[in-house]
Amino acid sequence: MLLDRIQALMAEVEGLAAGSAEEVEQLRLKYLSKKGELNALMADFRNVPAADKKAVGVKINELKQAATDKINALREALGQAETVHAGADLTRTPYPVGLGTRHPITIVRNGIIDIFSRMGFVLAGGPEIDDDLHIFTKLNFAADHPARDMQDTFFIERSDIDVTKNMLLRSHTSDDQAHYMEAHRPPIRIICPGRVYRNEAISARAHCFFHQVEGLYVDKGVSFADLKQVLLTFAREMFGEDTKIRLRPSYFPFTEPSAEMDISCHICGGKGCAFCKQTGWVEILGCGMVDPNVLEACGIDSKEYSGYAFGMGVERITNLKYRVSDLRLFSENDVRFLEEFAAAQ
Ligand code: PHE
Repeated sequence: MLLDRIQALMAEVEGLAAGSAEEVEQLRLKYLSKKGELNALMADFRNVPAADKKAVGVKINELKQAATDKINALREALGQAETVHAGADLTRTPYPVGLGTRHPITIVRNGIIDIFSRMGFVLAGGPEIDDDLHIFTKLNFAADHPARDMQDTFFIERSDIDVTKNMLLRSHTSDDQAHYMEAHRPPIRIICPGRVYRNEAISARAHCFFHQVEGLYVDKGVSFADLKQVLLTFAREMFGEDTKIRLRPSYFPFTEPSAEMDISCHICGGKGCAFCKQTGWVEILGCGMVDPNVLEACGIDSKEYSGYAFGMGVERITNLKYRVSDLRLFSENDVRFLEEFAAAQ
C-alpha cells in the first residue's frame, strides 16, 4: 500500500545523516530529484482511488516537506562547521575583549613620576588618613593655623591636647615628607603621589578631593638654585622645550623661603586666554627650602643638611595639558570623557 511506503520513507528521512556536502547531495538526489523517491511516489499516486487521493496527497506533501527540511538542515550544519574550521584560531577568546583606557589623572601622575625618576627621585608615599602630628605639627604649622580649622580639613577624630589623636583626611601630601624624614637619613630624594582632601564645595574649579605629587630633596649644600633648575627641567619635559617658568614669593609654614611657580600658559602660548585669565601665566605648584624647624622635628640636623620641597596639583596639570575645564569630569566616570584619553596613555 502506498500509505505504508510513505510512512516507511518518513521514518527513513527523519533518521538521515551526512558527513560531508557530497553525502548531502547524494541524499538530495535519492529523495528529491527527478528520479528520486518522491517523484516515484507521485507516479503511483495517479493510481490511488479518487476517494483516498486527498488523504494520501496530504501525506506525500508532508513527506516532501520533511525531506526538504532535513536535507537543508544537514547542509546548513555542515556549512557552519566548515566555516569554523577554515583557518580559525580555536584558542582565541570568543568575543573581542574591549581594553579600558587609563584615567587621565593616572596618565599625568605617571608622567610626572617618570620625569622626576629620570632625575634620580625615588617613589615614596604615605597614608591618606593621617594624624595632625605629620600633616601639620611637624611641618611647622602654628597651633592656631587656619588649615587646622574644620572648615578646611576633614577631621575624623579630634583631641585638643594630643595631636597624635587628631586623625584627619590629609589636606596635602606634605605629610609624606615628615614620614620619610623620620625613617630615613639624607641624602633623601623622593617623589610622592597621593590623594588629598579639603572641605570645599564641589564646582567646576574646586573639589573635596584631588591629587598632588610631593617632591623632597635633602642633602648637604642643597640650594634654591637646585630647586629652580629641577622645576624648569620638569616644566620643559611636561609642557615642551619653550615653556617658561617664573617663581613668585609666597608662604608655606614648612618652607622658608617659599615660592609659587607659574608656567607660561600652555593653552595660549603666553598670549593671554580665558584659562590663564589673560595673564599668560598659570600657577602649577608651591615650593621652597625646607624650613630648618621641619628638618629638626624629623630628626635631621639642620646645620649639616638643607633641602627643598615642592607640591603640585595633578588635576591642574591635567587641565592645562588636555584642556579639561571642569574638575568634576575627573570623578564622574563618564566613559565618553575617559575614552578621549585612549591615545594618551
Ligand atoms: N603642600 C602645599 C600645598 O598643598 C604645596 C607645597 C609642598 C608647598 C611642598 C611647598 C613645599 O599647597
